[in-house]
Amino acid sequence: SQYHKGVLHLCETGITKIPNKYIFPIEDRLRNTLGEEQTAECVGLELPVIDFAELQGSKRSQVLKSLSKACEEYGFFQVINHGIPHDDLANMIDVAKEFFELPFEEREKYMSLDLHSPVRYGTSFSQNSDKTFCWRDLLKLTCHPLSDMLPFWPSSPVKLRQVAALHSKQIKFLFLMIMGAVLESLGLASSSTCEDDGGEKILKQFEGGSQVMVLNCYPQCPEPDLTLGMPSHSDYGFLTVLLQDEAEGLQVLHQGKWITVKPLSNSFVVNVGDHLEIFSNGRYKSVLHRVLVNPSKLRVSVASLHSLPFDAIVRPSTKLVNEANPRRYKDTDFGSFVDYISTCDSKEKSFLESRK
Ligand code: SIN
Ligand code: FE2
Repeated sequence: SQYHKGVLHLCETGITKIPNKYIFPIEDRLRNTLGEEQTAECVGLELPVIDFAELQGSKRSQVLKSLSKACEEYGFFQVINHGIPHDDLANMIDVAKEFFELPFEEREKYMSLDLHSPVRYGTSFSQNSDKTFCWRDLLKLTCHPLSDMLPFWPSSPVKLRQVAALHSKQIKFLFLMIMGAVLESLGLASSSTCEDDGGEKILKQFEGGSQVMVLNCYPQCPEPDLTLGMPSHSDYGFLTVLLQDEAEGLQVLHQGKWITVKPLSNSFVVNVGDHLEIFSNGRYKSVLHRVLVNPSKLRVSVASLHSLPFDAIVRPSTKLVNEANPRRYKDTDFGSFVDYISTCDSKEKSFLESRK
């Protein structure tokens, strides 16, 4: 057929070696940073932790400072005490696993090479342009507007629509609260008078903004050192909110070193995307991250990417541009992002570089 059947299908054939198509150049898959021993795992560094309950309470101003520091220095943080019931998160992970366990013929119904398709089952990033394929199958679910999108979501497993719809609403609420705090930390207080890009106005836009949920599956890999679940990339939106199971795999580039994110139960990993870097005129950075694969454990994650509405133009906030901080980024929109990922190779996935 015209498309690849994905990594799960490949594993079902019982391979002991990975096909050449999945072997990344050595410099892309060193377990640590270029030039360092491949075996020297980066340990000891942890991502900043943001206590969501404290953010919503009397310690808000203190937490806003930590949030600002996390966005400036790491581009990543973990959120705890978010108020979403643990069972709901477990159900979301379980239903994602059940989808990936369906017979190939069932999953295949949602396969598409069209990156614009609101629901898409696929492998790697973009099969048409990726020179090397990554060790990842994915189900993309567009979440906004939810009632229009739901009928396109897979009807099997039977619980998928209900569980994923609840998750998308819970995550949207969390995103709006965190985004409000991020705006405030940039000095764009939500109580400020309504100017073009004051906090309040833009927060309203996020309510009707884009939300895409990506269910990722990284199967056990017989040669984990030769490939990657995802090569180094940055995310396009304002914030990505990531739910992961207990298997590790995510690494974040921090001060030239790859930090392995230790999964923290009942938490989310949140990161700054390209659109927030542009909007903040470079004060907050969208940071490169990647996913390693595991010889014995399948890993599942659910990434929710949030931004302005699909037809919006993203540009630096006029309040963050002045003589001391001249404008550093060009205008952009979603169309140019999709064009970009449709044509570039998977190992060059930093859209931002083309926007400076
Ligand atoms: C992502 O980079 O979007 C997903 C990361 C992960 O699966 O941990
Ligand atoms: Fe990402």
